[in-house]
Amino acid sequence: MKRPIILAFLALVVMVSQACERRCFDHDWRFLLADSVQMAQPGYDDSWWRQLDLPHDWAIEGDFHAGNPSGAGGGALPGGVGWYRKTFTCPDLGSNRLFLEFDGVYMNSSVYVNGQKVGERPYGYSSFEYDITPYIRKGRNVVAVRVDNSDQPNSRWYSGCGIYRHVWLTVTHPVHVRHWGVYVNNGKVEVDYENPTSEKVTVRNIWLDAEGRKTSIRKPRKWSCDDPYTYRVRTQLLVRGKVVDEVETVTGFRDFRFDANSGFWLNGKNIKLNGVCEHHDFGCLGAALHEDALHRKLTKLKAMGVNSIRSSHNPPAPELLNMCDTMGLIVMDESFDMWRRRKTQNDYARFFDEWHERDLTDWVKRDRNHPSVLMWSIGNEVLEQWSSAEADTLTLEQANLILNAGRDASALAREGEMSVNTLLADHLADIVRKYDTSRPITAGCNEPSPQNHLFKGKAIDIIGFNYHHQNIADVPVNFPGRPFIMTESVSALQTRGFYRMPSDSVYTAPKAWWLPYTDPTFMCSAYDNMHASWSSTHEETWDVVKHTPFVGGQYIWTGFDYIGEPTPYGFPARSSYFGIIDLAGFPKDIYYMYQSEWTERPVLHLFPHWNWLDGQQIDLWCYYSQADEVELFINGKSQGVRRKGQHDYHVWWRVTYEPGEVEAVARRNGQVVARQRNRAAGPPATVSLQMDYQGRDLSFVTADVVDRQGTLCPHAADQLFFTAADGLEIVATDNGCQMSMERFTAPNRQTFHGRCMVVVRGKGTLTVRGYGLQQQSIHIK
Ligand code: GAL
Repeated sequence: MKRPIILAFLALVVMVSQACERRCFDHDWRFLLADSVQMAQPGYDDSWWRQLDLPHDWAIEGDFHAGNPSGAGGGALPGGVGWYRKTFTCPDLGSNRLFLEFDGVYMNSSVYVNGQKVGERPYGYSSFEYDITPYIRKGRNVVAVRVDNSDQPNSRWYSGCGIYRHVWLTVTHPVHVRHWGVYVNNGKVEVDYENPTSEKVTVRNIWLDAEGRKTSIRKPRKWSCDDPYTYRVRTQLLVRGKVVDEVETVTGFRDFRFDANSGFWLNGKNIKLNGVCEHHDFGCLGAALHEDALHRKLTKLKAMGVNSIRSSHNPPAPELLNMCDTMGLIVMDESFDMWRRRKTQNDYARFFDEWHERDLTDWVKRDRNHPSVLMWSIGNEVLEQWSSAEADTLTLEQANLILNAGRDASALAREGEMSVNTLLADHLADIVRKYDTSRPITAGCNEPSPQNHLFKGKAIDIIGFNYHHQNIADVPVNFPGRPFIMTESVSALQTRGFYRMPSDSVYTAPKAWWLPYTDPTFMCSAYDNMHASWSSTHEETWDVVKHTPFVGGQYIWTGFDYIGEPTPYGFPARSSYFGIIDLAGFPKDIYYMYQSEWTERPVLHLFPHWNWLDGQQIDLWCYYSQADEVELFINGKSQGVRRKGQHDYHVWWRVTYEPGEVEAVARRNGQVVARQRNRAAGPPATVSLQMDYQGRDLSFVTADVVDRQGTLCPHAADQLFFTAADGLEIVATDNGCQMSMERFTAPNRQTFHGRCMVVVRGKGTLTVRGYGLQQQSIHIK
């Protein structure tokens, strides 16, 4: 919701100390990682504190340490208590109102204005707003925010610490639309407004097309993944014929349904939801919201053929939904990873009873107008699926494992029973339906039995399984007439550039959920041949989803690697192995399998690299599309032609290594349509700097160690040193290695399997140096 007419007014009334986006209140805060009650006081001297702009995540600036209370599961980065303060000047507000809105503060925030406490919010993923009018005075004002992320672990992945999303300041007339007070449901607009006066208020809604022209919605253009067309509703409140408040809401029109026999339909077209689960972090940038980092993420996923995102396991940043609206990505919007029963020692379960109604309400009201949001998920693998759960007393690692193990019948609902857990699920669904009736509700369930307590009531519209692809065939019998999706799937384990042979053996790690897993490499295999005990290879699950019409789609765990949850290892591993794309944003090989299945673009991807020892037996895999066959050549000698069958997703050869080059040649109808050559690289000679993604503010530059011919050296582990000049600033570096202990904000980074990534802000020159490597620069314009 935007308030255009406030712009001029806000600039006049509230002198914020920077020229910023309308209502943006991100700039020029002071921050200190320490705690004292004095810090709330307006007279407190914060001049020596660090000055920064929001969004900010202090944890990402720290060092990995086994002793950090988040544990490896939370990324082994520091927590603690931090304060943010901002001073601003305000003239007399008159009868106007002033609101301060936070998109997300992780976690346990308390907000003070001029020393008075305005409110607190435990859940770190909720957006919230305070009416600060009563606390504001003419002249100097101070906002102070205490953020407490000291009680850890409280999340099963990296949460970040601080005011990590945007902050907004809004001034309104006393007669105004309430926060998230516009609800647009298929062309019908409901407006909730405040009128403390005795004046009559008229509500006017004006429809605008994507170009901002007035339009009619009698025959609206539909929103879809290929044509994400959006409309806007301009809502005006008029008093005595004068507009006193105005907000704009982006919305769209689409028909969709989930069918028990034929899966998902959008605007009359039967499509699969080719989804991925995504946590909110941006790798080396941490949890702090960066529009450029978010757009880069979504762009890479869309290019892979992804058409849907699950905001696992919490409300996402509003910007994610805005981008999904405009990029044509369908969203499964999720609220919680736990309800009353905790999964980690200090998680949201301790606040659930008191706060769930408020958090659910705010979540639905905030997100219900987005055309991209097509489903609500009220929880992920909540322990209330079962009658009792021992996980309350387990460590984080044990809890993670046990969540994926089976339960015996005694933990399931009995026939005809209406349990407390079923009632709780229904109660949560009722809260959602109070504010939105236009979307179905699901939940990520890892208990596939119809006796799962969540399935027994009226809460769940779409049956959702996490994993359990072996149980999918039973769905029509167990859940007659009910639509079905895989709310979470796969959880294969991969390290970019590491290959475990023989590639036709599947490695399970851990072998069983209760067994520890160790391997001195701390790596997993980038052939699609390694997964956790509860999960599968990518190909195995995709084959089921692809060939089972009633499965509406799947949400693969995960699109990108994320910080925390380094299954199957513990510290020093500190980030996930599940991603299709690594933490630095480099696609793993499996990316191209999905691209070959999910997109119309021709794909030919031969791997691994061609730098082995003479005489070694090497397995070569190839993903391809839009071709009938692929022939492999080593130094010009054919190794045979391979064709995929109906249930194959790659072809492969076992060959004996010899230096030189290997080539895959794809043919359609006998004609060559594509070739890929992998050459053996010589010794590292220089660094190739390439723009990976250039945003408005941030640029992501790839640094590859290459030989004299420019071939990537796949074993290179060189320390690279970056310097920025002419106004450019180095923000962070990463290499996608799950157990690197290098600080993300450091301007140097070891290459991992030959590559690393540097994130810079602004324009200027980036230079890279390394021992024995030729220096290189790139100019960012
Ligand atoms: C699921 C869980 C996810 C993640 C995943 C790893 O059970 O929902 O949050 O832990 O397992 O495989």
